[in-house]
Amino acid sequence: MRHTLRFAMLAPLALATLCACSSTPQPYADSSPGDDWPGFGRTYGEQHYSPLDQISAASVARLGLAWSFDLPPGNPLSSPVEAQGVLYTATGYSVVRAFDVESGKLLWEHDTKVAEAASPRMRNAWGIRGLAWWDGKLYVGTQDGRLVAIDAKSGQQVWSQQTLESGMVASITAAPRIFDGKVIVGFGGGDYAAVRGYVTAYDAATGTQLWRFYTVPGNPAVDKDETTKMAASSWTGEWWKLGGGGTAWNATTYDPETDTVFVGTGNGGPWNQRVRSPGGGDNLFLCSIIALDAKTGRYKWHYQFNPGETWDYNAVMDMPLATLTIDGQPRKVIMQAPKNGFFYVIDRITGKLISAKPFTKVSWASAIDLKTGRPVEDPNARFPDGKEFKLWPSPMGAHNWLPMATSARTGLVYIPTTDMAATFNDRGIDVQHYSRKPGSDNNNAVNIGYATPELLGEASAFLQAWDPVTQKQVWKQPDFGVWAGGVLATGGGLVFQGQANGQLRAMDDRTGKVLWTYDAKSPVLAPPISYRWKGRQYVSVITGSGTTQALLDVTRKLGLDFVSQPRRVLTFALDGKAQLPANPAPAPLTAQPDPSFVADQAKWTAGIMTYHQNCATCHGFYAVGIGTAPDLRASGAPMSAETFRSVVHDGALISLGMPQFNQLSDADLDAMRHYLRARAKDLAAGK
Ligand code: HEC
Repeated sequence: MRHTLRFAMLAPLALATLCACSSTPQPYADSSPGDDWPGFGRTYGEQHYSPLDQISAASVARLGLAWSFDLPPGNPLSSPVEAQGVLYTATGYSVVRAFDVESGKLLWEHDTKVAEAASPRMRNAWGIRGLAWWDGKLYVGTQDGRLVAIDAKSGQQVWSQQTLESGMVASITAAPRIFDGKVIVGFGGGDYAAVRGYVTAYDAATGTQLWRFYTVPGNPAVDKDETTKMAASSWTGEWWKLGGGGTAWNATTYDPETDTVFVGTGNGGPWNQRVRSPGGGDNLFLCSIIALDAKTGRYKWHYQFNPGETWDYNAVMDMPLATLTIDGQPRKVIMQAPKNGFFYVIDRITGKLISAKPFTKVSWASAIDLKTGRPVEDPNARFPDGKEFKLWPSPMGAHNWLPMATSARTGLVYIPTTDMAATFNDRGIDVQHYSRKPGSDNNNAVNIGYATPELLGEASAFLQAWDPVTQKQVWKQPDFGVWAGGVLATGGGLVFQGQANGQLRAMDDRTGKVLWTYDAKSPVLAPPISYRWKGRQYVSVITGSGTTQALLDVTRKLGLDFVSQPRRVLTFALDGKAQLPANPAPAPLTAQPDPSFVADQAKWTAGIMTYHQNCATCHGFYAVGIGTAPDLRASGAPMSAETFRSVVHDGALISLGMPQFNQLSDADLDAMRHYLRARAKDLAAGK
């Protein structure tokens, strides 16, 4: 009682400060000293920047492994968080682990029991990309759509909420984000089923749902609020029956100054706008940043990167906040390097575009008109009149979800970049019409040719330092393969980034010069983080290949396969002396003999398409194993129709991370089996 009275007597300003202190644990402030790394991008501003400087250009030569932990199989492509001397990871089917940062000792393990909850809705069971810490609890999403709060000390569940509406085929892939005592999460799945995107905010302490914002409009006969009406006027046809897409499957950012949440939204579902919204239109809020009032979830403004999106161009990539001096004026901005290849600087108060320039090869547009904020598209980019278009960047994105970093020291942004093309045409349009019948949950991929070897031959990946004020590249370092790893920038003048070939490197933040490398003996693509405990600075990263489709056979080249590949938590510090154990030898890659097999061209053709639409992301292009899932050329499963059906259609291995594809017909299964047997024969023949 006395406390209440005392607070009541405080001046409003002091009260506001007090409230901010109690509801905003210091580590989330962008200006925090960097002892902790509590959220995916460290702080609210999502810069993936640590101000710590003990590990610096001068000392990095002494950086060594402090400890490592071997994770069981399961997708490891995920970012840890750290709070008060404990490192937390979420990997595979959202299994959360806590480690003592000094000793690497496992303190507890929490299994969210996704395997038991596994269902066909987990069509894109990618694995989980991270988790969040707030006020003594951890927050993690699950592939079956739950948001779970876990006590950071005991590892016990505090609350759990199912975030998906009934019947939805979707999965949480993102690390939940924290803001002002709330936790927000979206989901992915718009590429796989008729899904309408939304984000939901929950009370972080209790799990009570606070608000939900739909990123695309529903049936206008039912949804009549102002924002939905505005969005619906930019759609045509009966899009709501097809879902619409626009899922928020990765980044959100929070600005405490204006109490605004920024949500990045994904591509249209189905991809092809001629199917989704046949009369055209901008299709709000696909491929946009939407600014929402953090308290109510009410719409403030939006900026749409790709009006009438039709190429799987997501705008869900990380959105760091910064204050940039532009034309002599300090501007509060939000930035994004979305899939479409332009780097955007946007006024985060008004939503107005300040500048946009291509940061890699772009063929779909020549420029972004700063007056209208709209792209100047190539007239052929929408593959009209049966034409085919060679699209740069590909749907893999010039930049995908592996985060860039924004350095407060240099003012530069470090973008992991992929330079890769795809061909787009309308050939898959009938498949889309068919598969998006109301209630259907079939795959909606358009018939795109980005898996062709010619296109991959032209592809490359690199890390580049980008000046967001001048919109120019400052330096560039080639990456191995075509997939660039997530980035960490530090106050010690270093940029950390791993590569698919297992090399983790530290580069000079101003010149890009490689100052230190470490052979992690397994792909390093997940973003590293840095933090300080008892005066010592650490860098942690999780290794192993996730759903990195374009790695091709990199894992084999490294002497690894799905089973033998190490998936590890690595923690580095100055004078660390730990050693990694030698990698186990991979199983020999030998095709199962099948002398009775006879090639059938028609089935092969159908099979290669169905396979690449549904399976290549995990099992690799042309069924060449990439370490994320078994190499199906050497698997016995495709030899028997029953075994194949039970695994693929009936979900026999769903608890081990092999999704259930119960929408595939017997003809689809037969065609795929045929294709895989043909590939086994190729392997036996040394092809
Ligand atoms: C999200 C990733 C993912 C996708 C997509 C995926 N798989 Fe799998 N699949 C796996 C994993 C992981 C396993 C290994 C499970 C285990 O540990 O036994 C697996 C195992 C299998 C196996 C058993 C292999 C063996 O020898 O044990 C078959 C057959 C298979 N998948 C076929 C398919 C087909 C066909 C598709 C497309 C229709 C597909 N998978 C799509 C992840 C995936």
